[in-house]
Amino acid sequence: MFNKNHQAADEPQLDMSRIPAHVAIIMDGNGRWAQARHLPRVAGHKQGMQTVKKVTIAASDMGVKVLSLYAFSTENWKRPESEVSYLMDLPIRFFNTFVPDLVKHNVKVTVMGDITRLPEKTQTAVNDAMADTKDCDGMILNFALNYGARDEIKRAVQTIAQQAAAGELDPASITEDTISGHLMSAQLGEFADPDLLIRTSGEERISNFMLWQIAYSELLFVPEHWPDFDGETLKRCLIDFQGRHRRFGGLVNK
Ligand code: FPP
Repeated sequence: MFNKNHQAADEPQLDMSRIPAHVAIIMDGNGRWAQARHLPRVAGHKQGMQTVKKVTIAASDMGVKVLSLYAFSTENWKRPESEVSYLMDLPIRFFNTFVPDLVKHNVKVTVMGDITRLPEKTQTAVNDAMADTKDCDGMILNFALNYGARDEIKRAVQTIAQQAAAGELDPASITEDTISGHLMSAQLGEFADPDLLIRTSGEERISNFMLWQIAYSELLFVPEHWPDFDGETLKRCLIDFQGRHRRFGGLVNK
């Protein structure tokens, strides 16, 4: 048995030359983490916010180019009003305390999702964080807030259909790139599609996250609840990714 600080000689090491460019995470298990400690569910979200800070710095240090985090889905509005309200305050608390660290680490904040439905104060915090980090050109920290992949695809289809109806676009000329270019992830450019999608807390489903973009992503389901996830866990996930053979439907490993 080896502890964290004493790696076995034959244990795979992280290859810094093959870091996945885009890592996406479905941060699950906050509620169960709290319940296991006889705490209110929101205590799990609070701890989960601390994990976001740790994992953001760890990912940036490892050379990840885009870290997409599923923070609030279009379905999460169904939760009790008190929990929704707490979740809406989290970005305010997060950015109020963490933007200087983001700037220090050259991390730029972007958002996917319809933030116009969020409370005004939350929108302001998110917009300020994007403005304050707009010149950072290191890792992109891409929050999915009031995001749902079906909603994203529906909006893209509506825009494309409007362009076709206006005679600006020939339906026969629509390509996969046309669709990718109208998704909320288009702002991520060449890194729009995650290389690795991680879901914490043992659940093995996608829950309406980046459905178009994960067509060829490697999927990894880990047992840790999100508040227990950390830089070491992320490193193990990246090592697991590096052991995968990606063929993108072809025969040659990439
Ligand atoms: C899923 O766990 C988690 C969420 C719906 C919220 C995720 C939010 C955070 C991790 C904090 C986000 C921080 C910022 C900065 C926006 P769950 O509540 O579904 O857990 P359960 O499945 O155990 O009930």
